[in-house]
Amino acid sequence: MRHRFLVLGASGLVGGCVMRLLRQHGYTVAGASRQRTGDGWRRFDLLDPATHAAALEGMTGVLLLSRPGDEEAHNHAEPLVSAMQEAGVRRVVVLSALGAERRPDFSLRKVERLVEASGLEWVHVRPNFFMQMLTRPPLVTEINAHRSLSLPLGDAAIAYVDARDVAELAFTALTDPALTGRGIDVSGPEAFTQRAIAERIGRLLGEPVRFVDIPEDSARVSLLERGLPRPQAERVLQFYSLCRMGMCAKPDADGVVAGLLGRPLGMLDDFLAANRSAWNSTMS
Ligand SMILES: NC(=O)c1ccc[n+]([C@@H]2O[C@H](COP(=O)([O-])OP(=O)(O)OC[C@H]3O[C@@H](n4cnc5c(N)ncnc54)[C@H](OP(=O)(O)O)[C@@H]3O)[C@@H](O)[C@H]2O)c1
Repeated sequence: MRHRFLVLGASGLVGGCVMRLLRQHGYTVAGASRQRTGDGWRRFDLLDPATHAAALEGMTGVLLLSRPGDEEAHNHAEPLVSAMQEAGVRRVVVLSALGAERRPDFSLRKVERLVEASGLEWVHVRPNFFMQMLTRPPLVTEINAHRSLSLPLGDAAIAYVDARDVAELAFTALTDPALTGRGIDVSGPEAFTQRAIAERIGRLLGEPVRFVDIPEDSARVSLLERGLPRPQAERVLQFYSLCRMGMCAKPDADGVVAGLLGRPLGMLDDFLAANRSAWNSTMS
């Protein structure tokens, strides 16, 4: 029987790409959303378990995304996993994060463990930072306003990955039974320091973009000023500290993900060049 898929986060970056790929390959797919309605969409709210059964009706596979930065992701996933079991879902791909398996207290690791214990077929996709972080707030806002990139990252390198590659791997994980039971790290093909990235963006714009290595305390203040709840801000700071320890620097150099996709992964320079217009406006 062909799978029928429910894609969480389908109105967002990764989920949207996964939904398009499933459609292009002829699968029956519905996007789960709190806001989108109409053909191809089902009303779904992770925080409202009353929406889960109807969204899952007739589905055999699920892309399980959590709300970005959700400290309680496991508590929100628990009723969903039960609803999947009741609905007869057979396969679930968890969109997790790099290094989750080394951090038992991390909410996305707890989501992974819930799924592992559920009896469903599972695959965990564990991405590094997305390249698209550079074209989204807050980084894009700062680059446009001040021609600077301020992060508490020192000389730490990050193997940023193109979110479209993450999505294609999630699509493969949903549709290829050979990947069942695997946790797959997804990093880009090369690692760069933030200084090198700022220089590259500056070269594209024809004016300098400075990297400013800010202390962790300044980063905390700025995250809290942006309205992040304190636990979430602390989690972001923990990510940065893992990066400073070199944990996000390992690229897909041995070609595991490229091999699974059957093509080279997106390069940062190509991503920057294609998105040059994102940093065009100088707002002061
Ligand atoms: N950004 C990174 O560098 C990075 C790295 C590793 C892992 N990740 C993980 O990747 C995942 C996807 O990121 P993304 O950039 O694709 O996300 P995104 O574009 O910001 O989209 C977020 C999605 O979450 C959905 N959502 C928010 N609250 C929801 C709720 N209460 N119930 C159901 N859905 C809800 C939204 O759907 P509606 O508004 O339509 O409901 C939206 O489609 C996140 O879980 C993130 O933790 C990100």
